Amino acid sequence: MGSLEIGSRLDACLAAAVAADPTLSDVAKVIAACATAAIEVSTVIGRGALAGDLAAQGAQNSDGDVQKFLDVLAHERFTEALRGAPVSEVASEESEGVMLLNPGAPLAVAIDPLDGSSNIGVNMAVGSIFGIWPTASTPENPLGSFTGPGTLQRAAGFVTYGPATSLVLTLGHGTQTYTLDRAEGAFRLTHPRMEVVAAAKEYAINASNARHWDTPVKAYIEDCLRGAEGPLDKDFNMRWLGSLVSDAQRVLLRGGVFLYPGDNRKGYAQGRLRLLYEAAPIAFLMEQAGAGAIDGERRILDICASAIHERVPLIFGSADEVACVAKYYGGRNPAAGRSPLFGQRGLMRG
Ligand code: F6P
Ligand code: MN
Repeated sequence: MGSLEIGSRLDACLAAAVAADPTLSDVAKVIAACATAAIEVSTVIGRGALAGDLAAQGAQNSDGDVQKFLDVLAHERFTEALRGAPVSEVASEESEGVMLLNPGAPLAVAIDPLDGSSNIGVNMAVGSIFGIWPTASTPENPLGSFTGPGTLQRAAGFVTYGPATSLVLTLGHGTQTYTLDRAEGAFRLTHPRMEVVAAAKEYAINASNARHWDTPVKAYIEDCLRGAEGPLDKDFNMRWLGSLVSDAQRVLLRGGVFLYPGDNRKGYAQGRLRLLYEAAPIAFLMEQAGAGAIDGERRILDICASAIHERVPLIFGSADEVACVAKYYGGRNPAAGRSPLFGQRGLMRG
């Protein structure tokens, strides 16, 4: 992005990006709207229980999940802010169909207004995720803005409402992180160029689903667990925060690999995470930080959605680790065809 001086305000950085590339003008307005909504949501979350029961349950969302008070509040704040931006339509986790905002406007937004809902009400980090697409819908093809590959995204970002509130952003030229300066009510650039280390020793997966995983994931995690005595030749640490944005934030800063694979529970053949407003924006941010994002076999950014709430298996993180997982999916894992003793130090490998 144009001005990369640490401490610069988001609005100044966006203005510099637009000065360098005037075609980003509308994109910058949409990002500014998302930032405004995020600051409002952050203020509510920051008050915690003083703001009421943020986890109070309401109706069911598109996916059958029960909506919590904060899910609805975030959805309303973001869609309200986007109404004042050049946004034609919004695909939100909290709305079954595409929401029409400003017909004829050039951009469309896919959004998960409140990610990591199970962390609401227990003072743990949650987030918001968004991807900005060129409007391509027509009366004949109302989903047209969201059915191309993720490479069409003009920008993507996620906000983490944690001990600090941060905004991770890409406009297709690297990934930057801004941190909310609460005294000023503005995001300031704190990480001008995120670079995910290529090799890492930390994985994130919900291990309670182990018995349901598909074979490549079972084999990979088994080998992670075998640590330095196994074919991966190193000891791993495990972290699972239960909120995609928080796990993604950690991977960006510290490296590692995140997996939410397909599994054989009913309805989980494609995992749990949604392509348009979870996987595609995160994949864009990861790639722009030198990391990878795949569904096991395909690059996430090459996949086209056919429905707005479509799920996709998601594996992202340090480039070498993602490439290693891809080998397990391709049946080329280091341990394929091994004898039970393969990889034991001092036995097969010396
Ligand atoms: O949005 C879905 C989500 O809450 C993610 O933030 C998180 O990574 C995942 O679900 C957790 O799923 P599970 O409860 O199956 O571990
Ligand atoms: Mn989510």
